[in-house]
Amino acid sequence: MERAIGVFDSGIGGLTVLREIISLLPEEDTIYLGDTARVPYGTKSAETVRRYAIENARFLVDQGIKILVVACNTASAYSLPALQTLLSIPVVGVVEPGARRAKEVTRNGRVGVIGTEGTIKSRAYEGLLEGYGLQVFSRPCPLFVPLVEEGWIDEEVTYLTAKKYLEPLKEKGVDTLILGCTHYPLLKGVIKKVMGDVNLVDSAEETAKEVRAILEESGGLKKGGGSIHRFFVTDSPERFRAVGRRFLRNNLRDVRKVDIPLL
Ligand code: DGL
Repeated sequence: MERAIGVFDSGIGGLTVLREIISLLPEEDTIYLGDTARVPYGTKSAETVRRYAIENARFLVDQGIKILVVACNTASAYSLPALQTLLSIPVVGVVEPGARRAKEVTRNGRVGVIGTEGTIKSRAYEGLLEGYGLQVFSRPCPLFVPLVEEGWIDEEVTYLTAKKYLEPLKEKGVDTLILGCTHYPLLKGVIKKVMGDVNLVDSAEETAKEVRAILEESGGLKKGGGSIHRFFVTDSPERFRAVGRRFLRNNLRDVRKVDIPLL
């Protein structure tokens, strides 16, 4: 039997990453785990997020996956090295692909990073970007997550919130901004309105390209046939189904609640 691409996130947001993977690799089977019972990760400690990430990864590995994608920026920022050490399959996070893309597109070497409190506190993006010799200006934007989940993509309140968060970054003269959180690609319109002419780096798109490159190189791409997409959540599936449709731009059919084994 063909093995699937495994993807986990703290909840719904990682569907933006899954959407890009499905669009780039339409023949692949996928298994998505949204840890909806323990979301949000963005306000939790590194130690807690790392433990959750390992539990999620083990659950997906037990389902039989060929590659693990950590779609959550906070979980990638805090737990990627631990997961890579622990697992024998390739593990891809969203931080490195996004940082690499920023290096490619910046012209003035001044890069902004926005994400959850945890992602910004971890300095995971900063570490990589500074290693590339770039100047980094970062800022947590915690209110973006509930605004997106509420569906307020184009509302005045969202624009004002974006202005408050992003104007200081604009004043720093960044020409590139990394959307370092699963939810932020849905706010591209409003972010552009505030930031004007800057490169927006969508970590979801870059991560999907990385997954394709790894599978191509290892000969692990699926050879034809229809694709199956399965979804697991750790809380009841209703909200995930309702809100997730907007993230995936598709209906979520096969969603099941699971109790993942704890460490
Ligand atoms: N998925 C999280 C991230 O990308 C955002 C939501 C949360 O805080 O759990 O960092």
